[in-house]
Amino acid sequence: MNKHIVLLPGDGVGREITESAAEVLQAVAGDFGHTFTMEEQAIGGDAIDNVGTPLPDATIDACRNADAILLGAVGGPKWDGMSADKRPEKGLLGIRKALELFANLRPIKGFPSLLHASPLKETIIEDSDILIVRELTGGIYFGTPSERRDNGNKVVDTLVYEREEMERIIDKAFQSARLRRGHLTSVDKANVLESSRLWREIVEEKKNDYPDVTVEHMLVDAAAMQLITQPNQFDVLVTENMFGDILSDEASVLTGSLGMLPSASIRTDGVGLYEPVHGSAPDIAGCDTANPLGMILSAALMLRHSFGMESEASSIERSVRECLDQGYHTADLGMNGGQEVGTRQMTKAVLDHLTVKRVTDGI
Ligand code: NAD
Ligand code: IPM
Ligand code: MN
Repeated sequence: MNKHIVLLPGDGVGREITESAAEVLQAVAGDFGHTFTMEEQAIGGDAIDNVGTPLPDATIDACRNADAILLGAVGGPKWDGMSADKRPEKGLLGIRKALELFANLRPIKGFPSLLHASPLKETIIEDSDILIVRELTGGIYFGTPSERRDNGNKVVDTLVYEREEMERIIDKAFQSARLRRGHLTSVDKANVLESSRLWREIVEEKKNDYPDVTVEHMLVDAAAMQLITQPNQFDVLVTENMFGDILSDEASVLTGSLGMLPSASIRTDGVGLYEPVHGSAPDIAGCDTANPLGMILSAALMLRHSFGMESEASSIERSVRECLDQGYHTADLGMNGGQEVGTRQMTKAVLDHLTVKRVTDGI
């Protein structure tokens, strides 16, 4: 198959990890007889510096015409003082909104050899396998107007959701649960927020359409605690935009590091955007120490969800697992023993394992 991929490296470690994932994708294309053409476009602080805006029109156009998009990360201290509209993060929010990527799928599944990389007890995290389904294009992130009043002494952020925006993400979560272990935990703050009460009502209505899925409601504060004390109770966790953002960083602790988590930002049809859950990690940018695996696993999600390439996606995931089993790990995993490697070396290890498999399989 021929596929065209837009790369949005962005800022900080974004460029380093995007290079890693692009190399892995090209190796997989070679292994399986595909052609992936790649085109780089600017977003975030990189775009502000070069074009004067965090989301240039050329980037939106290229993304609309792509078969899939791979995004590194945006943001960093250099741009932190800029106004809301000029910030790098506005570019990321803008591309999600422009492409209507309302569903952010964040799988939280640890690798066996990383069980002892988590500060949590192995008995708590073993067997945990969660899919966080985060609403991505609504809620308080997109309220208007977000502004300061009264000479800067009063702030206004509004949380708006349309019923239809809630329905489509809740449907997506039910459908995902059906393909997994059939359990859905809906997380909200219905004891305080009207938006959460409508959300809960919709989940109750929808559950009649999915009789094979069991449903539980959980308040977000309790969910934050349950995620790290009893993660095994969760199968699919669905929630609104900001709760999903916060809970997914927390859930990354189950896997050993935020640097391990991939994500898929998708809609019902059309182009999908794939991005690690972590940010631009300015504290380690340019040091060749960033963990590229969250990004490489995001590339695997791209192959699976956008291109229907299951074997190709699995070959990347298997290669990552084998590298970790052999003790390769980056500094963020804070492990004793094995071999601590940098971004480039970890990428090379993943590539080598793809090659080993190719030879073994006789492809
Ligand atoms: P962060 O996720 O960038 O970093 C948090 C911590 O995790 C840091 O100590 C960092 O070194 C570490 N870390 C993150 N990714 C890692 C990796 N791949 N390998 C090893 N360690 C890793 O969050 P932050 O520091 O709160 O935010 C920094 C900037 O990133 C901000 O400007 C923020 O807006 C932006 N951000 C962007 C995205 C995105 O583009 N998707 C996501 C989150 C944050
Ligand atoms: C994420 C990030 C973004 C978000 C920021 C950078 C706008 O934290 O993708 O998780 O909050 O959605
Ligand atoms: Mn986040």
